[in-house]
Amino acid sequence: MKRFLMGVLTTLIVGAGVGAWFVYSGLFDVSADTPHNTLVYRMIETARDNAIDRQVRDAIVPANLADDERIRRGAGNYAAMCVECHLAPGKSNSEIRMGLYPEPPDLAQPGKADAAARQFWVIKHGIKASGMPAWSKGGIEDESIWDIVAFLQKMPTLNADQYAALVESSEGHSHGGPAGGDNHHDEAASAHAPHDAAESEHGHAEKTAPVAAKKKPHDLTDGHAH
Ligand code: HEC
Repeated sequence: MKRFLMGVLTTLIVGAGVGAWFVYSGLFDVSADTPHNTLVYRMIETARDNAIDRQVRDAIVPANLADDERIRRGAGNYAAMCVECHLAPGKSNSEIRMGLYPEPPDLAQPGKADAAARQFWVIKHGIKASGMPAWSKGGIEDESIWDIVAFLQKMPTLNADQYAALVESSEGHSHGGPAGGDNHHDEAASAHAPHDAAESEHGHAEKTAPVAAKKKPHDLTDGHAH
C-alpha cells in the first residue's frame, strides 16, 4: 500500500512538472489559424455545451418570442452588432469571421438555431477566449437581448430581401441600458461618416463614395478594395 501511494505521488509530481514546463516553454500554439487537435476541440466543446446547459436549466423564456414587435426591434440590433461575425440572409462571409477561431456559427442557416434560452445566455454572458462578447457588460438590457433572440428564431426563415426590409423597418441600433442610451439613433440610416473617413485614410475603402449610397448598415465588406 505504501509503495502504491509513493507511486501515485511520484506520478502526480512528474505530471505537474511536465505541465508546468509546457506552460512556460512557449510551445503551446496560440495562433488562431491552426486548429486545436480533435481531442482538445471536443473537450472544450463538451465543457462549453454542458456548462451552458447547466446555466439555463431554470431559465424562464418569455412567451411572446414570436411577437412581430420583438422581432422587428431585434433585427436592427442584430444588423448593427452581430452580422459581421454571424452573417445574415444574403451575406455569405466576412473578413472577421474567416479569421476567428472558433468560427462564429452562421446564425442565418436553418437548423443552426439553438434553443432560445441558450441563445439568451450566450448573448448575455459571452464565451471566454472565443470572440463572442458578453453583451451585458456593454449595458444591453435583458429585454433587448430577448428581442434579439426573437429575431434569431426568425432569421433562418428570411430571404435577403425580407431581412433587409425588416432591418429597414426597425429602429436600427437602439437597445436599453447605458450603452444603448448613447446609441439611441438610427444607425441603419446614418452614413457612418467618421468610420468611412477613417477607412479611406488608410486606403482600405477606395470605392467608398459610389458604394456609400447603397451601403447596408455595418456592411464592411462593401467598398473594400484589396
Ligand atoms: C467578434 C465576433 C462576434 C460578434 C460581434 C458576435 N459573436 Fe456571437 N459568437 C462568436 C463566436 C466566435 C461564437 C462561438 C463561440 C464558441 O463556440 O465557443 C459565438 C456564439 C454565439 C452564439 C451561440 C451559437 C451556438 O449555436 O452555439 C450565439 C447565439 C451568438 N453568438 C449570438 C450573437 C449575437 C446575437 C451577437 C450580437 C449581439 C453576437 N453573437 C456577436 C463571435 C461573435
